[in-house]
Amino acid sequence: MESAEIARRFLRFFEERGHTIVPSASLVAEDPTLLLVNAGMVPFKPYFLGQKKPPYPRAASAQKVMRTLDIDEVGKTTRHASFFQMLGNFSFGDYFKDQAIPYAWELLTKPESEGGFGFPEDRLWATVYLDDDEAFGIWHDKVGVPAERIQRRGMADNFWSMGVPGPCGPCTEIYYDRGPEYGAEGGPVADETRYLEVWNNVFMQFERGAGGGKEGFPILGDLPAKSVDTGMGLERMAAILQGVDNIYEIDTTYKILDKAAELTRSRYGRDARADVSLRVVADHLRAGVMLVGDGVLPSNEGRGYVLRRMLRRAIRNLRLLGAGEERYMHELAATTIAAMGDQYPELKSDAAHIHTVIDAEETSFLGTLRTGTAIFDAAVEETKRKGAPVLAGGQAFQLHDTYGFPIDLTLEMAAEQGLRVDEDGFRRLMNEQRDRAKADSAAKKTGNADVSVLGAMLDRAGRVEFLGYDHTLAEATVVGLLVDGASVPAAGAGTTVEVVLDRTPFYAEGGGQLCDQGTIRAGGALVEIVDVQSPFAGLVVHRGKVAQGEIRVGEAVQAEIDVERRRAISRSHTATHLVHRGFRNALGESAAQAGSENSPGRFRFDFTASGAVPVSVLRDVEEEVNAVLVNDLKVHAYHTSLSEARSMGALALFGEKYGDEVRIVEVGDYSRELCGGTHVASSGQLGVVKVLGESSIGAGVRRVEALVGVDAFRFLARESVLVAQLSEQLKVRREELPERVEGIVSRLRAAERELEKLRSARVLEVAGELASSARDIDGVSVVTHRAPDGTSPDDLRKLALDVRGRFPGDRAAMILIAGVPADRPVVVAAVNDAGRGRGLKAGRLVGVAAKALGGGGGGKDDVAQGGGVRAEAIGDALGAVEHAVRETLS
Ligand code: SER
Repeated sequence: MESAEIARRFLRFFEERGHTIVPSASLVAEDPTLLLVNAGMVPFKPYFLGQKKPPYPRAASAQKVMRTLDIDEVGKTTRHASFFQMLGNFSFGDYFKDQAIPYAWELLTKPESEGGFGFPEDRLWATVYLDDDEAFGIWHDKVGVPAERIQRRGMADNFWSMGVPGPCGPCTEIYYDRGPEYGAEGGPVADETRYLEVWNNVFMQFERGAGGGKEGFPILGDLPAKSVDTGMGLERMAAILQGVDNIYEIDTTYKILDKAAELTRSRYGRDARADVSLRVVADHLRAGVMLVGDGVLPSNEGRGYVLRRMLRRAIRNLRLLGAGEERYMHELAATTIAAMGDQYPELKSDAAHIHTVIDAEETSFLGTLRTGTAIFDAAVEETKRKGAPVLAGGQAFQLHDTYGFPIDLTLEMAAEQGLRVDEDGFRRLMNEQRDRAKADSAAKKTGNADVSVLGAMLDRAGRVEFLGYDHTLAEATVVGLLVDGASVPAAGAGTTVEVVLDRTPFYAEGGGQLCDQGTIRAGGALVEIVDVQSPFAGLVVHRGKVAQGEIRVGEAVQAEIDVERRRAISRSHTATHLVHRGFRNALGESAAQAGSENSPGRFRFDFTASGAVPVSVLRDVEEEVNAVLVNDLKVHAYHTSLSEARSMGALALFGEKYGDEVRIVEVGDYSRELCGGTHVASSGQLGVVKVLGESSIGAGVRRVEALVGVDAFRFLARESVLVAQLSEQLKVRREELPERVEGIVSRLRAAERELEKLRSARVLEVAGELASSARDIDGVSVVTHRAPDGTSPDDLRKLALDVRGRFPGDRAAMILIAGVPADRPVVVAAVNDAGRGRGLKAGRLVGVAAKALGGGGGGKDDVAQGGGVRAEAIGDALGAVEHAVRETLS
């Protein structure tokens, strides 16, 4: 049975039993305690906790899920996978154990021909929580499972929670007995390889607190209602129903694995190492495509890092499979999209975007591998020169941090060089960096406040009303004050404070728009607000310093924003919408916004594109946008339903989550976009928009920077002065400047080339002389020579090859040229065919010379290069090589 069919049957079964089918939520979790959705119940958490009223009493879903704790284990075993899908049915205070258990049993055992999964009853086992006699009774009396196939297990196995504070409860799990060939008798308590868990039914009943691991977390109390959360892993079910051994061999995953094998000309099941790589590629492509599909872009932090790590591990493993410089990610992503497209049709419609992102990450990582490898070689050389057996943690960290070299790559390449890596040192530096980043982002979002303190404040304040679309000044009441993250009743002069009001004209940073600044006044108190954040939807935290007086909770205040700053930011925001529309008009709808920052007078706009945007396109977009300004189109904002907005073709941001009601911002009939930000009243208020240029910010994402209003004008004025100066200095009219500069540059280039030629010619002049002065050692012509200081490594090499080429083919020859290009000695050895026939190897001879110079090097048998640190030892090095030649020949 195909994966898509398994999902269809599951959902149909529960739909027929009154469940609302809820489409999978994005992998990007709305829950601030999670990076990615890691269980089917995550989107329903507020319903279990009673924070939100569920719109339906029962639901079923096939939810996309990612577990990233053990990415390193993926592929090494056949059990781990990062991305999978959870089929689940849920009751929110509706039915409980007595219905959930029979439902699961019915669907599992119903014959395939009748829409079930056709499991033989006598091969299913159940486990229940230690004292859950109720569940035991239902299994035994109602369903009829014999007592010896129902086992009781403790907290670690049969009590489920998300691992973080939230809903939890005892669970009952259903296991399938794969048969004696898979392990010992005795049920799931005896052997979980033979007895495979297929379905977990959790009876959500309690709320848990923080800490305490898997078995000792505190129970805070009862949930408002007894509920049900079940989870059946689709991939595992598919493995069983498709009669394959593991999740890598099921329909959706195997297609990718098979494609990877075909492309790299390997075969699955022949070589254990290659099998690991093939599984990594298959798993990571699935996960990567799904993440990009949900709007994640590769980056160095958070979800972006999870994605980057997986794409890079996939590329790395393709190379281990022998891909070399070949690029296979496009084809593999296409295979993945085709394999998953039945269940997720949006992957097909977003294919262009997904390919752009993945292809770009591949390009950038292959580049990384090239530069990083050079840096790595230098680090190895230095380590070896010091005679150390271990590559320093700092070097591994630098490779990782600056060149994006994954540590497993460094480990592997170091091992090939006979070196170990100081992994502890590396991890220490990584942790330090991670802690710094965490502290930074926590401080930014919450001002160091404990999330729970802010949560409590939100409960008290309710949703803060935003008045800033229409007002710059408003009366409000202080509902909370925080100093150093703790709630306080009052704050006096000199204190840095965070203020929560019941309503506010201040715009909190969000949607790419920087926050408002301004003041909050009450009686004699004045707080100067410099930062405004919204750590959770509905909560606005104003951060600033009390400049005078004392501000108190419960007090009435006037909140007033800095109007100039707001206007300048609004101009940028409207300009961003225009530029977004402009790029889509010029490049097509795949030029989707990937980020933006609207600051006073200037803005940044990131969007997806497969390569650099030509200057001509930038100019066209700029001109089109400025025409919109001149036409002074009205800006109009209003609320409507999401479906209405979509049918009007409003631009929505990729991967952004929208509620049922959305706000639309229109600029005349030129641009229509979903947006919560603030804007100007008409496009003429922008004055001028000047695009400064575009650049790559990696992973198929381009960044355009631009100026708006007076800032744009000042920029243009400065440029004009600059051009005037140049035209005066070069004594030509402005229009002739490019031609003149081009003339100067090309004359300079020609002169440099000429100089280079002369230099090479001088070096090579001596080649004939060197060849004729060769010494004969045992029938081999041997030349050892020190070139003048300052001769480049390239010229040393050319000279060695030139001299070698002057000997007839049947005459064995070995040439060694040494020199000091800058401050360190370099040696090049060249041996011709006949010389190699006599056992002489350039790589080995260079090694001998380099050793005498206090360095290292090596290379191929015909030409090799090395170097060291002791230029004064060049004479010794030449002697040592001659000695080695004699030894070899004798
Ligand atoms: N939440 C439970 C699990 O993830 C059941 O859906 O196993």
